[in-house]
Amino acid sequence: KQDCRLHYVLTAINIANNAGNIIKDCYHQVKTVSTKDCATDLVTDTDKLVEKLIFSSLKTEFPSHKFIGEESVSNGESSELSLEPTWIVDPIDGTTNFVHRNPYVAVSIGLVINKKSEVGVVYAPILNDLYVAVKNEGAYLNGQRLKILNPPSCLSNALIAFEWGADRDSNVLALKSRNLLDIMQKHQVRGMRSTGSAALNMCMIACSSLDLYFEWGPHCWDMAASNLMVEEAGGFNTTTLGCDFDLMGRTIISAACKNIIEEIVPTLTQIPTRRDDE
Ligand code: IPD
Repeated sequence: KQDCRLHYVLTAINIANNAGNIIKDCYHQVKTVSTKDCATDLVTDTDKLVEKLIFSSLKTEFPSHKFIGEESVSNGESSELSLEPTWIVDPIDGTTNFVHRNPYVAVSIGLVINKKSEVGVVYAPILNDLYVAVKNEGAYLNGQRLKILNPPSCLSNALIAFEWGADRDSNVLALKSRNLLDIMQKHQVRGMRSTGSAALNMCMIACSSLDLYFEWGPHCWDMAASNLMVEEAGGFNTTTLGCDFDLMGRTIISAACKNIIEEIVPTLTQIPTRRDDE
């Protein structure tokens, strides 16, 4: 099992590096942009190219495994998760950032077995940050072990993150705004950030640069690698209801410690969100 996992993680790192090189090459160029579900849900030719490269490399190495990828699903492929080993891939998490040459972009490759993340690799090629996590073996940033330090005693001592996502439906926007206002007013948090990458928000929890991140709307490919980064660094993932983390559920709270999750949950007004496996 050890040998297998070493093979999985080394392969994923190698593929993430190759994918990152393509992203670096295209980063300053003019992108060919199209839209998916709505005008603010972007995809570029690079997302498609990188996903193709990642999948062809993974399929050569692990032909019996299953695969779920952001761009394949938007082309009509299934996102149903079975108990089989499944590679869940986001070729560019932070596509809008990529289009606008904002450096918070990442390749995310997660291996999920029995519906639990076993290996996670998140590579931010412009920032030169490689995050790697293996179940029960720890999380690492550029080879340095990550351990969450000095988690905040309460939300008023916390730096937190939230993402708007792509949905511009006015009811959804109103509920998201209401949540932000309620949190600011009730908990007086020190700051509220939005990096534009769900995976990197979660990696930043793991390296103690953020204390909590929450969102309605991220997909399994945004979280399949990074949820393990958070857990292996000593943090916690739940749904926005504070229940057990649900990879396909499309809601997330990631945090440095449990107490701030318990503090934020009663403040949140829930937003109906369609699951990835529905
Ligand atoms: C999105 C980004 C964004 C988050 C969305 C994600 P994409 O991923 O992570 O920050 O708000 O929920 O879907 O589309 O750039 O791969």
